[in-house]
Order: sequence, then C-alpha cells, then structure tokens
Amino acid sequence: MAPGANAELVRRDLAVLWHPCTQMKDHERLPLIPVRRARGVWLEDLEGRRYLDAISSWWVNLFGHAHPRISEAVARQARELEHVLLAGFTHEPAVRLAERLTALAPEGLSRCFYADNGSSAVEVALKMSFHYWRNRGEQRDRFVNLSNSYHGETLGALAVGDVALYKETYEPLLMRPVTVPSPDCFGLPRAEWDAHARRMFAHMEAALERHAGKVCAVIVEPLVQCAGHMRMYPPSYLRLLREACDRFGVHLIADEIAVGFGRTGTLFACEQAGIAPDFLCLSKGLTGGYLPLAAVLTTEEVYQAFYDDYETLRAFLHSHSYTGNPLGCAAALATLELFETEPVLERNRGLAARMAEAAAPLAEHPHVGEVRQTGMILAIELVRDKARREPYPWQERRGLRVYEHGLREGVLLRPLGNVVYWMPPYVITEEEIALLGRVTAAGIERATAG
Ligand SMILES: Cc1ncc(COP(=O)(O)O)c(C=O)c1O
Repeated sequence: MAPGANAELVRRDLAVLWHPCTQMKDHERLPLIPVRRARGVWLEDLEGRRYLDAISSWWVNLFGHAHPRISEAVARQARELEHVLLAGFTHEPAVRLAERLTALAPEGLSRCFYADNGSSAVEVALKMSFHYWRNRGEQRDRFVNLSNSYHGETLGALAVGDVALYKETYEPLLMRPVTVPSPDCFGLPRAEWDAHARRMFAHMEAALERHAGKVCAVIVEPLVQCAGHMRMYPPSYLRLLREACDRFGVHLIADEIAVGFGRTGTLFACEQAGIAPDFLCLSKGLTGGYLPLAAVLTTEEVYQAFYDDYETLRAFLHSHSYTGNPLGCAAALATLELFETEPVLERNRGLAARMAEAAAPLAEHPHVGEVRQTGMILAIELVRDKARREPYPWQERRGLRVYEHGLREGVLLRPLGNVVYWMPPYVITEEEIALLGRVTAAGIERATAG
C-alpha cells in the first residue's frame, strides 16, 4: 500500500495497454482505477481506497468477489486438471455442469455445447440454427432481431445486434438481419406494458410472414435489453414470440447471457413467460464472474439433425480452444451450488425491493425520465426534458459525470450513455444499497445541474 502505487501502475498501464470499450484519450483526464484485490461488493485499489461494484464488473459477478467457496473450487480444480481439449476427450466438471444446466433449464433443452465467452455463444447459436436448416435440406439465411438489441462484438453477434455506437463502423462487414421494432416500454406505466407488447408484436408477425421460409431464427434478450440502455419489456411478448416461432417454423434463440442466473427474479428470464427457447445462450454469471465460459443449450431435435455418418458432413465442426475449460466448469458448479444451498432468489426479492425504495425519490427529479426495474436490474434514465422525455445530446456525456462523481465517492456506476443503472452482486447489503442511493442521487444532481 505504498503511497504513489496507484499512479505508478497507471503510468505503466498507459504505456502498454489498450482497454476495452474505451477512447484511450479519455484517460488524459479520466482516472484509470488500478485494483489490487476485491471482496464481496468491494474493489480495493493499491492504496487501500475502496469502490462499491454496483455493476457486478459488467454483470458477471453474482455472489461477490473472491467468494470463498468458488475460489476454493477453482483452486481445487487447478491442482487436478487445468485444461484438456474437449474434442475426443472429456472430464467430470464438463459433464456434471452439462447435467446440472440441462436439468435447470426450461423443458426440452437437453444438450449443452460449450464456448468460452458470450459473443462466441451467440455465434454458436446462429451457426447451429443456420446449419440445422441446411442439414434438413432447407436453404435459409436470415435472422430476425429486435431494434436496440445487443448480442456481443464478434462479427456475427454484432450483426444481429442493433446498437449503432458499436455496430455502425463495421456495417460493411456484417450480414443483414431483419430488424423488428423493440417492444421496449420506456415511458409507459406497468399497467400498459402488455398492451404495448401486443401492439409491437404486430411488427414481428409481419416480418415472419414477409420472410417466411427464409428465416433461421429470431434472437432476443428476454425481458431486458441490457446494453441497449436497460430497456425493458414484459414476459407476454416472449409468449407471443414462442407461439409465432412455432407457427412459422423458425427457431427462437434466447440470449440470457446478461439476464440469466437470477438477474430478473427467476433463474432464467424465460421462466417468467413459461416458455422454452430452441437455443439458450449463457455466459457471464455462469461462473459467478470468475472465468470466461459459455454454454449453448439446445434440443434433442437440433442435436439429431447433426448426428449422422461422418461422410455426410453434417457435423457441427465449430470449436474454441478453451471450450468447456475445467476451471470455468468448476467455478460454474460452485456457483450453481450456491443457488441450491442458499435461498438466493428469495433473498434477491428483498434486495430488489430495497433497491426500488432507494431509487424511488429519483423518479421525482426534474431530469429523470424514468426509473425502471426488473428484479436485480434497476435503471435511471436521465433526460433533458422530462415532460417530453427528450434525451440529452450524447455529446454532453451526462452519464459520465455521474460515473466521475461515483468514483470520487467510492462507488462504481459505469453508465450506458445517459442511463445510470444498478446491477449489483447478490451479496449487497441494505446499508450498501442505501449508500448507492445517496451517491447516485448526488451524482445525478451534479450531472444535470446547468
Ligand atoms: C445479452 C448479451 N449477449 C452477449 C454478450 C456478449 O458477451 P461477451 O462480452 O462475453 O462476449 C453480452 C455482453 O454484454 C450481452 O449483454
């Protein structure tokens, strides 16, 4: 904890590193935070200063940093088998995790294919769906997505997303999905969400009709479009979508990479609609935030469309070197064990209610257009004009001002444009939620003054 240790690591960092999702020139002004260790919801820098991780380090952490049981499971696994290729070989953690996931997932998802990050899981689901139809002798090549969706940054995943900030530059490289307006309920009272979702579903219906016979799959983020400014919609849309996908004979890909593992109030968001997708993409919280791992769960029917003599060339010849990494699987198994041995979802209901209380006063703020919440995800949208819900120009970077205030006060609140949100680890306490409320309120006051 030597004084000056932070500055020294930052100096070395800026000499060699290129950070993700960052205009590096910002760091001429914005502090870069070096983290030495972390416990629970707290990150600690090299000089002992602490930051409450209100966004679960990009939504991966579930049970706090350095959780003793997950750490021990990873350490134990590392002493036995750190990695082995998963083609032609297998191992206990990969098998056990696949058994657990297929047992927990919505009905019918009985096969597990591993990848090693969220974007790769999306690539797997897209390729598998496309390939399934080919193996069935049908030439289909379109995917349907929702406006404002986000599915990752690799070229296929980026193509089926719709956040211009990440996508626009690369458009010439990307396949073209059929994009349908999102059922996002921004600005509507809860009582109107279902009617709105039903109205918006007409666009989906029309798109499936227009492209009948050409669509491989519809891909959605169930209930919350997280990177798309935490915009939310009700389960009823998913029910309509499942029914329409069946009627038009297309796959449904549920990307629960961000919303899976309890974030929305149920273990998987699809459960709230009582539906099962044809592909369920999981990552992030899968390992409790410890290691990069992803899983794509699918049906026996999809699996069987690939199962044949080698010479028919129907196999899914997709691989990543770290597919099904044993350390990641061990972390995931320890994470699932915590769900089994502790009343996590029940406890989260209490925490979500505390979050709602802590954020309630913010709804009255003259520059807060909406406070919305689904389970353990709570978002506060800053607007220039409250009555018209007119956004601030993005160039003003109002959300960033809240972020800077948060850092000064020891809270990590990395916003999405002008949307400040809380998506904390499930071990956050009521006092820490209250702190979050105070720091966010003061940050918004500052960011919107003048
Ligand atoms: C819904 C969704 N899908 C896919 C991804 C991509 O995951 P990864 O960053 O691990 O590639 C993300 C990441 O934020 C996501 O929120």
